[in-house]
Amino acid sequence: MAIVSFILNGKPVSCDVPAEETLVDTIRRRFKLTGTKKGCGTGDCGACTVLLDGDAVRSCTLLTGMVHGRSVTTIEGVGTMDRLHPVQQAFVDVNAIQCGYCIPGMVLTAIALLNRNPDPDEAEIREAISGNLCRCTGYQKIVEAISLAAKRMREAGEEAAR
Ligand code: FES
Ligand code: FES
Repeated sequence: MAIVSFILNGKPVSCDVPAEETLVDTIRRRFKLTGTKKGCGTGDCGACTVLLDGDAVRSCTLLTGMVHGRSVTTIEGVGTMDRLHPVQQAFVDVNAIQCGYCIPGMVLTAIALLNRNPDPDEAEIREAISGNLCRCTGYQKIVEAISLAAKRMREAGEEAAR
């Protein structure tokens, strides 16, 4: 066991975890943040995606000890029921959600993309989400949602700069 301290959704946390514990299990079991899904558990589906210092990572292949001193953001940390993140709002607005299982990981992957590239084309969006599997939507609506979110976020940025 080892004490691991990190920032989780903006707040400092600590936990005593076995060396082999993965971040997805720590997030879900110890912190009860079940928005992060565990699909394959082997790094193949992207359902467990979280942001680590702003980059999208698979939390099922990351040992919790590796995040000591770093910042982790889960889907619970990016918006509220009253005020969705622009990416979440766009997913709702274009009906990009079916069963919803892949969506937290998709949204976080999209946020990481838009933070590094505010104006991605369709190919860049598809490349960014290529590691996030969705069995329901056929991806078209998801691509539309991310493109819409990008447009809205750029416009909001331009508005704020005026
Ligand atoms: S649960 Fe982590 S990639 Fe599938
Ligand atoms: S909406 Fe069902 S897996 Fe993507």
